[in-house]
Amino acid sequence: MEIQTVGIVGAGQMGNGIAHVMSLAGYDVMLNDISDDALSRAMEAMRANMSRQVGRGKIAEDDMEAALARIKTTTTLTDLGSSDLIIEAATERETVKQAIFEDLLPALKPETILTSNTSSISITRLASRTDRPEKFMGFHFMNPVPVMQLVELIRGIATDEPTFNACREVVARLNKTAASAEDFPAFIVNRILMPMINEAVYTLYEGVGSVESIDSSMKLGANHPMGPLELADFIGLDTCLAIMNVLHDGLADTKYRPCPLLTKYVEAGWLGRKSKRGFYDYR
Ligand code: CAA
Repeated sequence: MEIQTVGIVGAGQMGNGIAHVMSLAGYDVMLNDISDDALSRAMEAMRANMSRQVGRGKIAEDDMEAALARIKTTTTLTDLGSSDLIIEAATERETVKQAIFEDLLPALKPETILTSNTSSISITRLASRTDRPEKFMGFHFMNPVPVMQLVELIRGIATDEPTFNACREVVARLNKTAASAEDFPAFIVNRILMPMINEAVYTLYEGVGSVESIDSSMKLGANHPMGPLELADFIGLDTCLAIMNVLHDGLADTKYRPCPLLTKYVEAGWLGRKSKRGFYDYR
């Protein structure tokens, strides 16, 4: 099936990043969120991020304008009904995602492929609540979407080959690289990345090093572009904690126990960059 129209649910950091790369690759995008405010913030963010790419000679100004013109926004979820592909990029809470799919299903064409950008929730379980588990899979982008090369493609237990291949072709048209992952908690990237971030928080919690020394050790000693605590702030400490909980619950191994300091920061509302306070102070 030829994919031309992509419906994206959620216009936050991930959703607008996905709309950005899809529109630049020539797809028609219908971007949905619950408020007009969220949608105009997303359009502004995409214009700013694309302008940065124009400034660095990565894309032409005309291509930016054409891409932005291919993005339509709506607060009515069912307006996404005629999409060939849906990418759900809403809050990382299973009940929220399930409610979105439930509301969307009656409006969809039978051939529409449904995907979720979830970073850790079971694709098989999300798929089982829909009318098309064979046309459902994980489509997981990394943040910042316009920069990061990888997309994880996750098969649920029922995902069929045409669905997987159609998504793989979309990734190729985005000029990104797909990594195929089976549906186990947190898939590949977060299965490896989050325990490292959690261990960095333990290193801080146990007084082994300061925030600065932990981050500079990993930047200068392991050539990571960001230190693990800076990266945790960038991803969002609530997201990091949610993923650790999925690993801990799903794999039932104490090695995935979230660091109590991470839990404390989230309870304090210190969620990283988005709340202007995390391991660093952004105020
Ligand atoms: N849109 C478009 N371009 C962007 C951008 C955005 N949102 N953010 C950065 N860029 C571009 C910049 O314009 C710049 O372009 P050039 O190479 O042409 O100069 C390039 O990216 C580098 O940006 P900066 O110079 O501003 O800053 P930097 O060199 O410090 O790089 C970074 C920033 C790319 C974020 C880098 O620090 C990095 O790679 N960090 C690690 C990010 C990472 O690990 N992401 C994965 C998180 S895990 C995840 O996403 C999975 C999950 O489920 C939680």
